[in-house]
Amino acid sequence: MSKIPVWFDADTGVDDATALLLANTLDELEIVGISCVAGNVPVDQVTKNTLQICDLMNKQYPVYKGAEKPWFKEYHDACFFHGKNGIGDAILPEPTYEPGEAKAWDALHEAALRYEGKLEVIAVGPLTNIATAIVKYPDLKKLVKRVLIMGGSASGGNTTPAAEFNIYEDPHAAQTLFMSGIPVVMCGLEVTMKAYLTMEQIDEVHAHHTSVTDFYYACTRRSHTVSKSLGLPGLCIHDACPVLFAAHPELFKGEEAGVFVETQSELTLGKTVTDLYSDFQFPEKNTFVVTDIDRDKFAKIMMDALMSYRD
Ligand code: BDR
Ligand code: CA
Repeated sequence: MSKIPVWFDADTGVDDATALLLANTLDELEIVGISCVAGNVPVDQVTKNTLQICDLMNKQYPVYKGAEKPWFKEYHDACFFHGKNGIGDAILPEPTYEPGEAKAWDALHEAALRYEGKLEVIAVGPLTNIATAIVKYPDLKKLVKRVLIMGGSASGGNTTPAAEFNIYEDPHAAQTLFMSGIPVVMCGLEVTMKAYLTMEQIDEVHAHHTSVTDFYYACTRRSHTVSKSLGLPGLCIHDACPVLFAAHPELFKGEEAGVFVETQSELTLGKTVTDLYSDFQFPEKNTFVVTDIDRDKFAKIMMDALMSYRD
């Protein structure tokens, strides 16, 4: 089986780290590079976290630093949920290697050239790096097969009543992607809120006591407590959805739709406006909006992935 070459762009917090741990175990995917963007924590911390997760997996994937802030908005972190260091204040050894010298967007373009139209981009943070690459390299839209994102929602948001975190953080960058002509797969809150592990499932994973499962347990304590206080049935692993979709689309449901991002209004800034439920249809269907997931299969694959790592 030939593997799908994927580029992973992240703001490595708790669920980004978990998504990377998943991607690394999936036979269908070959990670060719990872870029880091300011989001859950500042980009230097994101880069450190990403290198540490690669070391934890014993896979020194090339890692590149990208944007330090959104295009036009001020930068805001999400430490209240992801902890001060972004990985739930879990402690990992210092990274054994350095990020590449190239900027994220240059490295992404170089990889896209190398894979001649086959590269798929999985983007699970604010879309600043991806949009910068699109603007800097007009040929990128022919070189990238599709971009699978965790971001947005066809209904309400989790950061404002209208907007989801990754899109709200850099709405102009997100709109640049949706307008680019590159096919987008959008895993928004409709699907990612269903992609969770319960406390019992996290305990089952923890019982394996490997470096990875011990890390996962430590990393998720804070975000699990916050999720519980919000009345959620478990800890959502939002960023794992586009990873799993790239390898196993049969586990998901969704629909083609037009999607654009509100960049003007104060009240609805960063809302992903879709025509899914509208009588008025956008003329162009630029996005596959994922709306549902087989949660039992998701939980099994996710747990098996975490438990598959050996010391
Ligand atoms: C998204 O925002 C971040 O906090 C998570 O890592 C995920 O990418 C969920 O809205
Ligand atoms: Ca993320």
